[in-house]
Amino acid sequence: MMLLLLFFLLFPVGVFPAERCDGNDKTALLKFKYSFSNPNPLPTWDPNFDCCDWYGVECDETTNFVTRLTIISDYLSGTIPPVIANLTHLQILRFHKIPFLVGEIPPAIGKLSQLDSLEISWCNISASIPNSLADLKKLRFLELSFNRLSGSIPPSLATMPNIIHIDLSRNQLTGTIPESFGHFHDRGTPLGLFLSHNKLWGEIPASFANINFSGIDISRNNFSGDGSMFFGTNKVTSTLVISRNNFEFDFSKVRFMDSLVTLDISHNKINGSIPTQITDAILLQRLNVTYNRLCGEIPTGWKLKYRREGFDNSSFFHNRCLCGVPLNPCKL
Ligand SMILES: *[C@@H]1O[C@H](CO)[C@@H](O)[C@H](O)[C@H]1NC(C)=O
Ligand SMILES: *[C@@H]1O[C@H](CO)[C@@H](O)[C@H](O)[C@H]1NC(C)=O
Ligand SMILES: *[C@@H]1O[C@H](CO)[C@@H](O)[C@H](O)[C@H]1NC(C)=O
Ligand SMILES: *[C@@H]1O[C@H](CO)[C@@H](O)[C@H](O)[C@H]1NC(C)=O
Ligand SMILES: *[C@@H]1O[C@H](CO)[C@@H](O)[C@H](O)[C@H]1NC(C)=O
Ligand SMILES: *[C@@H]1O[C@H](CO)[C@@H](O)[C@H](O)[C@H]1NC(C)=O
Ligand SMILES: *[C@@H]1O[C@H](CO)[C@@H](O)[C@H](O)[C@H]1NC(C)=O
Repeated sequence: MMLLLLFFLLFPVGVFPAERCDGNDKTALLKFKYSFSNPNPLPTWDPNFDCCDWYGVECDETTNFVTRLTIISDYLSGTIPPVIANLTHLQILRFHKIPFLVGEIPPAIGKLSQLDSLEISWCNISASIPNSLADLKKLRFLELSFNRLSGSIPPSLATMPNIIHIDLSRNQLTGTIPESFGHFHDRGTPLGLFLSHNKLWGEIPASFANINFSGIDISRNNFSGDGSMFFGTNKVTSTLVISRNNFEFDFSKVRFMDSLVTLDISHNKINGSIPTQITDAILLQRLNVTYNRLCGEIPTGWKLKYRREGFDNSSFFHNRCLCGVPLNPCKL
């Protein structure tokens, strides 16, 4: 009784702080919370408080709908419940470093039509990537690295009209790169594509020559055949990493983009020589052509802006017959 009196003294009628949180959003968040098997998952998610104030939840300033959900937790245990799809105004969804988050990505996530960024990384998510992600027409960032995803890459991902970043690295994906991925350029925006440390194999579609990658890392897979289509002077690529695959092509014929900062082609079966034109890539900071079948003289006259000391032998060793500075002199 005393408590109740105190309560009314503290909050006279009409001065209760209004709850901003949308009712449907709150219902969905509470269903989300209680889907986990922990005794007290997400302790700050108290039904008596405004959900816009809960840990990891952000609401839009004007509409008050929940627009961001970010959860990082080494405690939460269970699967992502399909009710997540009821947060219909979500723009950013991020699950990061939740080691006991298991099971599949619920296909219902494809209903989050306002989503700009979807990240489920460093969790323990498995099964294959649902095709329905391709329904996310506004999505720009897709980050699913460091999980246990398996199966092949859905070809439909290439149809997302606004995508500029796809990171599926450090999973157990199998199969080949879908032919459809050669048509990302329809959007005209440079794309970052990161598929390293998977079990992907086969040849790269020739249509990749038309894509302006801002960065690409497909290292530590089992890709084979030609990899020269990633090169070309008319591109804006700064990171090009194709190491530890089975690529076999003639390096003499490639031409380098001025934008290159990192180039790693190590551990392949690439032959030919290093074209002199590489010395025009003035932004180059990391170069690794080791463990290939290259021959001939290493170009001289590097015009490096940020590495005046040039590259040492650890950029070049273990090739068939590369010679010249910083390796042994070429035999005449
Ligand atoms: C999602 O919301 C709709 C409409 O409010 C409701 O009918 C449905 O049961 C909700 N889904 C879940 C899984 O709670
Ligand atoms: C993921 O799950 C597997 C199998 O349950 C387990 O061995 C592994 O430690 C988990 N990974 C993390 C990061 O907790
Ligand atoms: C890599 O792919 C080739 C075919 O291109 C296959 O013969 C080989 O067994 C694969 N290696 C591994 C480790 O999967
Ligand atoms: C890549 O982008 C640059 C700068 O936007 C443009 O000049 C170039 O033509 C593009 N190349 C391709 C292959 O689309
Ligand atoms: C380099 O490898 C390609 C593809 O395997 C082959 O066609 C070409 O003859 C080789 N070139 C040299 C100089 O060995
Ligand atoms: C690379 O250079 C270092 C220092 O100059 C030298 O000690 C080393 O033996 C060289 N390694 C090879 C493989 O040439
Ligand atoms: C190039 O890769 C090889 C093999 O992985 C590695 O030993 C070497 O240190 C790397 N060099 C540079 C400059 O990254």
